[in-house]
Amino acid sequence: DMPILTIDGPSGSGKGTIAQMMARELGWHYLDSGAIYRVLAFASLKHQIPASHEGALVKLAQHLDLQFELDENGLKVLLEGQEVSQQIRTEKAGNAASKVAVIPSVRAALLQCQRDFAQAPGLVTDGRDMGTVVFPDAQFKVFLTASAEERALRRHKQLKEKGIESNLSDLIAEISERDKRDSERKVAPLLPAKDALILDSTELGITAVYEKVRSYCAI
Ligand code: CDP
Repeated sequence: DMPILTIDGPSGSGKGTIAQMMARELGWHYLDSGAIYRVLAFASLKHQIPASHEGALVKLAQHLDLQFELDENGLKVLLEGQEVSQQIRTEKAGNAASKVAVIPSVRAALLQCQRDFAQAPGLVTDGRDMGTVVFPDAQFKVFLTASAEERALRRHKQLKEKGIESNLSDLIAEISERDKRDSERKVAPLLPAKDALILDSTELGITAVYEKVRSYCAI
């Protein structure tokens, strides 16, 4: 079987950073499943499809013209040949993503496209339901979490580095709202897989988390 490492968790838990580090370390492919939901939401705005138009959204999901390129600078995301890496990373895009992500038929339409990323020599993937729904038979599963305050603080610092000022209490509210929507939805709610290693990174730096994940995967 193809070796797969899934890293699930809430927004700002550091799962994307750790997943990319592990993919580089192992020389495996990388799937940022959240980017798919973000691109879908972005594409729906571009093509003026409201979230209430389920049939059109599903069609869009089935024919999403999406490309990912992982290099030293991170993940480059292309929609219909156009780079959208920056546009899909805003809080607004994240919120829009979590709104299309509650629709079961949309999630179902994206299953195969996600599973197609499992190619030799292996796959590291991050999201909300990688270990529970998309790759339930994965050999390695991690659930990475941290308190909402800590995650908001990380996002605040991240934005500041990009020269963007943000309000910490607004960020905590936004993160809590998205956590709530992601955890309470009926299909693929944000929950650790039964066989996942649960890591709380509230008081752990990236390097410490990375070391824990590496030793869990026995490398
Ligand atoms: O980077 P961040 O964790 O804030 O967000 P993301 O991983 O890019 O995901 C954006 C949104 O897509 C989440 O809030 C989820 O609602 C949704 N999502 C999902 O439902 N299932 C996944 N496997 C990944 C993301």
